[in-house]
Amino acid sequence: MKITIAIDGYSSTGKSTVAKQLADWLEYIYVDTGAMYRAVTLFAMRKGLISDGFFDKEQLIKKLDAITITFVKNPSTGKAEVCLNGENVESLIRTLEVSSFVSPVATVSEVRAKLVEQQQRMGEEKGIVMDGRDIGTVVFPNAELKIFMTASAEERAKRRYNELLERGDSITYASVLSNVIERDTIDTTRKDSPLVKAADAIEIDNTETNIEDQFHTILQLAKDRI
Ligand code: C5P
Repeated sequence: MKITIAIDGYSSTGKSTVAKQLADWLEYIYVDTGAMYRAVTLFAMRKGLISDGFFDKEQLIKKLDAITITFVKNPSTGKAEVCLNGENVESLIRTLEVSSFVSPVATVSEVRAKLVEQQQRMGEEKGIVMDGRDIGTVVFPNAELKIFMTASAEERAKRRYNELLERGDSITYASVLSNVIERDTIDTTRKDSPLVKAADAIEIDNTETNIEDQFHTILQLAKDRI
């Protein structure tokens, strides 16, 4: 039997790493929903609808029909990369700038409704691992396995900082830490679909766990449900 696996949690808890490992192992589809919110944010930035201290929500809502999000498989890494209106924007959506505008964009109910509808369509046949903030609560409330991932803000910022350094971005640890904390605050306090642990989700704190152990723990939980 194919099941649906929902992985939610705070930013930079390694959700996408474990989600991808699971999907590869189970031969399931993997969907990174954060990438979809980031692509919408990039669209808003390019249209001049969001910048420091400014966000024209109404114009973004009016332009939502002009946004198409798709995924394309990178043949060398096997990873699904996100496209905005046909353009592969995978690398462009990972900057600290996009990270700093994405949470306000994700508070807009019309944006959420559009993306949630697409996510539910992608999961209609099950056999899917999806990570995000509202997967177990809103997108797939009946998912057979729900994981809620946490880790300390400092550990998460350290991981994200190292990732950005590896890409060659010039940033400081302090700016990454403050972005992580700010996104947590917006994501957990927004009105529509706030980040919250579903009652039937299993919480995993990976501040001190290594990635391999965590993968085997979650894989076993999945196998128990298949
Ligand atoms: O997962 P990632 O950190 O890339 O997500 C970026 C942002 O997108 C989150 O901080 C959150 O504001 C938003 N998001 C969301 N719902 C999801 C996935 C992401 O609101 N399902």
